[in-house]
Amino acid sequence: MRSTAFLLPLLAAVTSCSSAPAPAPADPATVEAGHKAFAHLVEVLRHPRCLNCHPDDDRPRQGMHQAVHDPPVWRGPDDRGEPGAHCASCHQDRNATDARVPGAPGWHLAPLSMAWRGRSDAAICAQLKDKARNGGRTLDELQQHLAEDPLVGWGFSPGHGREPAPGSQAALGDTARTWIDAGAPCPPRGEPQ
Ligand code: HEC
Ligand code: HEC
Repeated sequence: MRSTAFLLPLLAAVTSCSSAPAPAPADPATVEAGHKAFAHLVEVLRHPRCLNCHPDDDRPRQGMHQAVHDPPVWRGPDDRGEPGAHCASCHQDRNATDARVPGAPGWHLAPLSMAWRGRSDAAICAQLKDKARNGGRTLDELQQHLAEDPLVGWGFSPGHGREPAPGSQAALGDTARTWIDAGAPCPPRGEPQ
């Protein structure tokens, strides 16, 4: 029995839409896995351990409620703090054991182009893939950053009773790999950016 008839309305809908659809990915199951992987990825990115360093303004945040950093500090000209209040003057290359100051090598604020606070999943997805905003990274380099960067790693071992980001850095690297291998699909736009 031929059963292609059900496709006809779908085809009509597609061809009547004038904006060009994204290149059709080969295998729907792979794409589905890619979308799922991105959903997990963005869940991690939105965890306060990550978000607190990826604000859309000049103030780092802290804690699960993303309160403005106390003591008050600002991004400064190079994302490393104002002169006299550099991030590294308090934050060491590891969590302080007897104090509450968190630490990891190269502790500083993510540049504004890498802000996630207040952005939709689709907007975050687009900027992650955009070399003009993601630090000039290819997708493979983005995956490598997620899998190996010490600031990302800190999110999973934040010390001082802080809630870690969900999963592990290795699992995050695997998730990013699945997403990228599926063509790095983004959720549909529509939410306000
Ligand atoms: C201490 C601050 C800090 C924390 C905590 C932090 N990041 Fe970042 N993140 C940065 C900085 C700084 C950069 C820019 C580094 C560069 O381009 O070399 C960055 C860049 C990135 C990038 C690459 C560029 C892009 O497009 O956004 C990703 C992905 C990323 N971080 C993911 C994470 C994840 C996931 C977590 C939590 C598990 C996290 N970060 C926690 C500071 C931080
Ligand atoms: C005067 C010391 C000092 C300076 C300078 C400083 N911090 Fe902090 N920072 C702290 C302390 C103390 C905490 C811990 C607060 C707490 O958890 O109660 C902290 C916590 C944080 C957290 C919270 C982590 C979390 O998820 O809860 C982030 C993010 C952070 N700092 C980023 C920065 C950045 C980026 C800079 C530079 C722009 C900076 N800090 C400069 C002392 C400082």
